[in-house]
Amino acid sequence: MKLANIYGFLRKDLQEIENELANTIDAEHPLLKEASIQLLRAGGKRIRPVFVLLAGHFGQFKEHELHIKKVAIALELIHMATLVHDDVVDEADLRRGKPTVKQLYGDRAAMYTGDYMLAKSLTLITEVENPSLHKTLSKTLVKVVEGEIAQIEDKYNVEQDLRNYLRRIKRKTALLIATSCKLGAIASGATKKEANLLYRYGYNVGMSFQIIDDILDFTASEKELGKPTGSDLIQGNVTLPILYAMENERFYSRLSSLFDEPNKVNESNINVILEELKETDAIDRSYHLSNLYLQKALHCLDSLPMNRARKTLETIAKLIGKRRF
Ligand code: IPE
Ligand code: IPE
Ligand code: MG
Ligand code: MG
Repeated sequence: MKLANIYGFLRKDLQEIENELANTIDAEHPLLKEASIQLLRAGGKRIRPVFVLLAGHFGQFKEHELHIKKVAIALELIHMATLVHDDVVDEADLRRGKPTVKQLYGDRAAMYTGDYMLAKSLTLITEVENPSLHKTLSKTLVKVVEGEIAQIEDKYNVEQDLRNYLRRIKRKTALLIATSCKLGAIASGATKKEANLLYRYGYNVGMSFQIIDDILDFTASEKELGKPTGSDLIQGNVTLPILYAMENERFYSRLSSLFDEPNKVNESNINVILEELKETDAIDRSYHLSNLYLQKALHCLDSLPMNRARKTLETIAKLIGKRRF
């Protein structure tokens, strides 16, 4: 099943958000404009706006529609800003199947393009007068940056453990998805209890989402990923499947000697590692952990009122475990 079919009832709202995203990044400076538009046009799942809109159905959606949509656009802009910056750090050439901003315009322009998107998101979010919303968002952004810097520090480090990994993906991915859910709820005037349940749903879905992303990096094709298979490993990112595979002595010593000299990491020696990883149970175990988070996410929904949005959140959680998108 395609993601877009699941939330068909949001189609019109999402189209509006798409148009507004393009309007918002209509920068005066040609380079900022070109660079931002190119990433926007490359596509993307827009999953954070979807979460904002769905969570916005637990309060009064119609009454607060304008604000909920501003929040949704802001969250996608923040996400895009982190991607542009992330591709500089990861020296990534492809994103969403297209050349990255960094690849097209260089690191310096990419830094400012990311900053520009972030600044634009602030313009939008401050139009929603709600201190608790601003507080939640700014706290999250601090954590996301901490997560990204932790990822740089942990690169090529084979001595890290599961706790380390979970803490990192919580900050770099899960918190922004949790926050998308919570802010949608807050902007719609949902109760505090509902907002917190949605936050916990988003956190658990977000953890699973990143674990699956890390699995797909090994198991999906370049076409599916929009970037080469094995990118994480080439970039020195030690993800969950690698942590599990390293429990095998031979795998561990092979990877650790390769990562001792990061400049010798290339496609051909990474391919050997990829083949060896397939011989282990690392992928199965990673799926298992992802499923535990999805179960928790579904559990959070149980205490929420039954409506179309809740059903859709349920379907999304069930689908994420199977996603190849
Ligand atoms: C990519 O996020 C980075 C992660 C947090 C896994 P998405 O998978 O949501 O990327 P797009 O927006 O669809 O390209
Ligand atoms: C995603 O990290 C960036 C953020 C969540 C800020 P990754 O490096 O794992 O994502 P991809 O693989 O480049 O999309
Ligand atoms: Mg990256
Ligand atoms: Mg990744």
